[in-house]
Amino acid sequence: MTDTLTLTRPDDWHLHFRDGDMLLETVPATAAVFRRAIVMPNLTPPVIRVADAQAYRERILAALPAGTDFEPLMVLYLTEATTPADIAAAAASGIVYGCKLYPAGATTNSDSGVRDPSAIMALYEAMEKHGMPLQVHGEVTEPEIDIFDREKLFIDRYLLTIRQRFPDLKIIFEHVTTREGVQFVQDHDSHTAATVTPQHLMMNRNDLLAGGIRPHNYCLPVLKRREHQLSIQQAVLGGDARFFLGTDSAPHARNKKEAACGCAGCYSAPAALPLYAAFFEEHGALSRLEAFASHFGADFYGLPRNTDTVTLKRDPWQVPAHIHAAGETLVPWQAGVALQWRLA
Ligand code: DOR
Ligand code: ZN
Repeated sequence: MTDTLTLTRPDDWHLHFRDGDMLLETVPATAAVFRRAIVMPNLTPPVIRVADAQAYRERILAALPAGTDFEPLMVLYLTEATTPADIAAAAASGIVYGCKLYPAGATTNSDSGVRDPSAIMALYEAMEKHGMPLQVHGEVTEPEIDIFDREKLFIDRYLLTIRQRFPDLKIIFEHVTTREGVQFVQDHDSHTAATVTPQHLMMNRNDLLAGGIRPHNYCLPVLKRREHQLSIQQAVLGGDARFFLGTDSAPHARNKKEAACGCAGCYSAPAALPLYAAFFEEHGALSRLEAFASHFGADFYGLPRNTDTVTLKRDPWQVPAHIHAAGETLVPWQAGVALQWRLA
């Protein structure tokens, strides 16, 4: 049995740091393992212009422990007021690595998002022209549509058209949760990819709803049936380079999750790499972890792979029950669970 595992330093291709004092928890937690992260822009107010991204980037860098070389990869939040000139400015900035499409109302802080994703074709066109990737939260938002069908419907109604009209646009189907999402990515060329969270890889909707409701497993898009989980697992375990690590780590205070109307999001950053390692090992595929965590994402974004390494050692530990941050209590995802691998 292998007891140490050295891999190219990984990157997190989908992450929520939040802002203010919360950065003092989230930034060190991620920078301890990952070299870069795609930083989601759903702050209040959202990161809409290059100047917002620049200022947010500075706040993140200020929260880095001394001597760490973490690099935040900033993202603009698309709104109905975003212009092609904003996209051009983002491309010229050197600090923005994508634009995020939040259908209005789809998730946390998405109220400023886009009501009709087919009404912003000029923005996709500008992004294609400037080589700016599109990160998609792929769910329709009409209240009458069953929450378990929202991802498939988004693909049918919007994404297939966008994919066909802008063949050179890089599209990342964020936090894929369904067989149809996996299929959409696999049916297209190398300009189409997906991020995969630990919860969508390791869990299905029974882990949310069977035997009691488990608010710390609640995220959006919501966990789906086991058959969908299996198709995500198959893509990842098969070594398909279009599927790579994106934790979607997203802290919410304990009292906002354990509530009558609980917030969506799993704070997985403190255990992210050991969690993915546990999944790969359980499926006899530990040798595939490195490409998923450290190669495929960089290759897709056209960025150099990292040249340094991280080492995991087999040394059992438990995910902490609580973390205190910014005057709040956080319950990390998989709190109390025993993990075999830890960062050396
Ligand atoms: O579960 C989620 N939490 N899904 C999202 O899309 C957003 C995220 C958050 O920001 O809390
Ligand atoms: Zn997210």
